[in-house]
Amino acid sequence: MIVIEDLRKNYGDRKVLDGVSFAMERRKITHILGTSGGGKSTLLKVMIGALKPDAGRIRYGDMEITNLQGRQLDPYRKKIGMLFQHGALINSLTVAENVGLPIREHTGLDDNIVKIMVKMKLEMVGLRDFEELYPAQLSGGMQKRVALARALALDPELVYFDEPTSGLDPIVASVITKLIADLNRLLGITCIVVTHAVEEAMRIADKIVILYRGKVLAQGTPGEIRESSDPLVQQFITGNPDGPISFRASSKDYREDLLIG
Ligand SMILES: Nc1ncnc2c1ncn2[C@@H]1O[C@H](COP(=O)(O)OP(=O)(O)O)[C@@H](O)[C@H]1O
Ligand SMILES: [Mg+2]
Repeated sequence: MIVIEDLRKNYGDRKVLDGVSFAMERRKITHILGTSGGGKSTLLKVMIGALKPDAGRIRYGDMEITNLQGRQLDPYRKKIGMLFQHGALINSLTVAENVGLPIREHTGLDDNIVKIMVKMKLEMVGLRDFEELYPAQLSGGMQKRVALARALALDPELVYFDEPTSGLDPIVASVITKLIADLNRLLGITCIVVTHAVEEAMRIADKIVILYRGKVLAQGTPGEIRESSDPLVQQFITGNPDGPISFRASSKDYREDLLIG
């Protein structure tokens, strides 16, 4: 289990995480749903140990992530992969060099072995014959898949995905969604996905957690969420603009802000 307890994070006086608590099971797919600007990326950064929360704890097995610093995070980092929201491929490196980078950084493996491992990871994401191309020569969906191959480079037991399908056309988005499901079902990889794509979550998640105003609004299986009698939850999953959640530009930060109407 990965257990999150009373996590809090402010940016200035803006409470982005305001006492978030929930648990995720290993070898399952958990989708964390939230609106844009709702603190999803912040939560992921705290989960990978890149950002310290103001309060609260995250436990993964016997490790308490929120207490670890610098090199103490290495044993955890070796177990996890991360697919960033914005590709983060290195443009001056080929596909094969990008995917091989974490292997070269974290292991002393022979170059021939690295090449074989890279081939295997690219095969897993359906991009076997693209090793020598550069990121700029690939479509957005293919870049995502290369980034995924790189996230898988060190055979992680857990992969975090930040908005893996945003900005992709629906067919390419479905390919990525199916890849996530396959990684979980075929390899047993724990998948934690933050997204605002409700349908994708409903299709493959074992568990859905909805974040709203810095707190957990609801959690459960897709079926339980669908049957929730809470009008906020219903509005969340149907995306209906008319409901208890109203949208308006906030004078404070000029972003979509959520208000109870
Ligand atoms: N480093 C930062 N400093 C100040 N405000 C930030 C910072 N990072 C994010 N924010 C703000 O915190 C809120 C949540 O951001 P984020 O976690 O990126 O949300 P999401 O990923 O759900 O869109 C947003 O209003 C954003 O502008
Ligand atoms: Mg984000």
